[in-house]
Amino acid sequence: MNITVTINGKTKEYQTSSAELLVDFLRRHGLHGVKKGCGEGNCGSCMVLLNGKAVNSCLILAPRVHDKKITTIEGLGSTNNMHPLQESYIEHAAVQCGFCTPGSIISAVGLINENPSPEENDIKQALDGNLCRCTGFKKKIEAVQAAARKMKK
Ligand code: FES
Ligand code: FES
Repeated sequence: MNITVTINGKTKEYQTSSAELLVDFLRRHGLHGVKKGCGEGNCGSCMVLLNGKAVNSCLILAPRVHDKKITTIEGLGSTNNMHPLQESYIEHAAVQCGFCTPGSIISAVGLINENPSPEENDIKQALDGNLCRCTGFKKKIEAVQAAARKMKK
């Protein structure tokens, strides 16, 4: 079947099947920043923005995103032009191995889209589904707080 999707600002028609998961569909099209960890909605490594809202792409079938907008970590910023959250994660040492980082940043963008001035508890809740084996959550919370302040200015 064919679907039309806007991915990172570009609208195109794609082929998929009724059983293909969105995470597999995106990775098949080279978006490897979308990680596939557990594949069951438990780790948060596959988060993408669906019409601005953070969702687990391993829990959504690709045909469901027909006529919708998807943003992956690749669409947020680049090495030379980073999103404030990407900068802030680096500045606050909230990145180590990096496996969880795209999903964690996407969850944080989803939060700030809904709530531009999140409190610590809001951030904890938003990142609750993003497992990290390396850094712990304190540095990530500080990074999100700093980025939210910067983005408000
Ligand atoms: S791969 Fe989707 S939540 Fe783990
Ligand atoms: S930085 Fe390694 S899992 Fe989070």
